[in-house]
Formats: sequence, C-alpha cells, structure tokens
Amino acid sequence: MTIAGNPPDVLPQANEPCWCGSGRRYKRCHRASEGRVLPGVISPMRSVPDHIERPSYAATGLVERWDEPVVKSDEVIERMRHAGRVAAEVLRLSGEFLRPGITTDEVDEYTHGLFIERGAYPSTLNYHGYPKSLCSSANEVICHGIPDSRVIRDGDIMNLDVTGFIGGVHGDTNATFLIGEVSEENRRLVRVTEECMWLGIDAVRPGRPLSDIGRAIEEHATAHDYGVVRAFIGHGIGEQFHTDIQVLHYYDSRATTVMRPGMVFTIEPMITLGSWQHRMWDDGWTAVTSDGRWTAQFEHTILVTEDGAEVLTGGDGAVSAGNPLSL
Ligand code: MF3
Ligand code: CO
Ligand code: CO
Repeated sequence: MTIAGNPPDVLPQANEPCWCGSGRRYKRCHRASEGRVLPGVISPMRSVPDHIERPSYAATGLVERWDEPVVKSDEVIERMRHAGRVAAEVLRLSGEFLRPGITTDEVDEYTHGLFIERGAYPSTLNYHGYPKSLCSSANEVICHGIPDSRVIRDGDIMNLDVTGFIGGVHGDTNATFLIGEVSEENRRLVRVTEECMWLGIDAVRPGRPLSDIGRAIEEHATAHDYGVVRAFIGHGIGEQFHTDIQVLHYYDSRATTVMRPGMVFTIEPMITLGSWQHRMWDDGWTAVTSDGRWTAQFEHTILVTEDGAEVLTGGDGAVSAGNPLSL
C-alpha cells in the first residue's frame, strides 16, 4: 500500500476509499490513527564530503565498541567542549528553521548542511544503520523519529535531537520546539520536561551516585502527574557516541555508580502526558507512547566538575541555556 505522511485537509466519509490509496474503506484504514504521526517516505542517505573526519561506523553501519576511560583527560575534555558547542549551535539553528508546511526531510537536509559547514559529521548518520542526520520526533513520538515526507503542522511539538562528531568526539543535545499555536496542556508538558532536565543537571555532584539524577527528574515529573519513559536513558559519551555509563531518568537504588570529576554523560529525560510505556514502529527506530499521548524531551551533554556540572552543549548559543527554575 501507499506510504503517506499526512492525510488531506478534507477527509473521506467513513465508507469512502481511504485517502492513502490502499483501496480500503477509510473507516477500515486510517480513520483510527487520524491525528497520529504516520510513517512517511524516507529519502536516500545524504553524503558527507571526504574531507570530514568520520566515526568508524560511518562506512559500514556497524558500531564497534572499545573500552574508553570514564574519566576523560583534559585534552579530550577540550575537544568535547568544542563538539558540544557545535551540536548546540546546530540544534538552535535547526530549531529556528522549523515551521508549519515543511517536511522533516527538509529539516534533515538543512541540519546535515549545518554540520558539514562546521566540519562535523552528523553522528546519527549510519549509526547502527540509522539513515538520517538527526532524529525528529513529533507529538506522541518519544524519540528516534526518522526525518521523512511528513509535513510539520501548526500545533505540533517537535523534538530535534542532533549529535555531531568533530575532533574525534561526539556532542549530543536535543530540545522540543513548539510549532505555531500549541495547546496549553502541551506547552506545559514541554516546559516541565525542560525543568526536569535542569533538575537532573542540578543533581550532578562528584561523590554522589547517579541515582540522584533520576530521583530529581522523577520527583518533578510525578508532581505534575506525568510519566517518565524508562526504555531510553542517558549515556556516557566521548570518542564513542554511547559508552557504558547509564543515566536513568527515574529513581533506581541500583544506580550506585559514583559521579567523578571528568566523567561525561548525557541527561535526556522523556516525559509523557500519560503512560510511560512505549511501542516501536516497524522501522525498528521510532518509539511512540503506547497510549498515543504526547511526549517531550530535552538533552544536554554534561561534564562532572569538582563542584557540580559543566553543560558542554550549553552556553549562550544553546536553546536550553539555563535552568528556568532559577531565573
Ligand atoms: N541522539 C540520540 C541520543 O540522545 C541517539 C540517536 S541514535 C540514532 O542518544 F541512531 F537513533 F540516531
Ligand atoms: Co543522547
Ligand atoms: Co541525543
């Protein structure tokens, strides 16, 4: 059957043929999913010029793993500051590009170009075979949405997750953007999700267990009656996109790893209006809420310092530049 991203403005009557071209009656085809995000057409992989340094999986899609120190040297940290700044700037510019009427594939084309202009490789491209240069996750999509022919609509909430590889290291950051007139309920979800990320960052302290981060995030989400997604977590990052450190966004007494100065990991809570449970699309990447309710996410790459945290993907150029609660 035809793969189509968006239904037309005027929908068929229940017994008329579905707009997607399947030949089935509308009521037996797309009616149940109207208003949901649907898979669209994914364009061919974009190429990266030869002069840009690429991670080893870029050619094969196969991700090798090796032992990487959890505490980074000053020299690696300096390179990670740069990668973080590049990712932060690409995220902000990509967010400014968003508007109703364009496709997420057009966003991918734009973001891909931003990385290349800066001499960076878009880390997601061919990572375990992932086909695009960023993740774009709308509405009930929790994470890892693949840019495609779906048209962005007024009222959507759109998470863009960008990761850049430059100087041999990765910087990873994401934010949820409001498209046009977003309902009060969804605006509140996005605001509280950003607060959850900052409360998690505020909990970063050398000598304390990683479980402090999840506790801070979960407490704030629960106070608003929101769900905390459990299947996707923050991660160590460095010369590899994902390393062994696991950062849960909910409290688990087993998360006893003690934070030490020089550790670098992401904090990236996914918060839902309803259930925290997820379902996967057949593409093997797109994670959606099991109940179809909307969800938001924010992410920063964090360095543990002697007395707290340095936000490597933060700073003036970042979308989420400071804790909205401490303003
Ligand atoms: N950037 C995502 C993260 O925050 C990972 C995306 S991996 C991809 O960890 F393959 F889906 F792109
Ligand atoms: Co991440
Ligand atoms: Co990310």
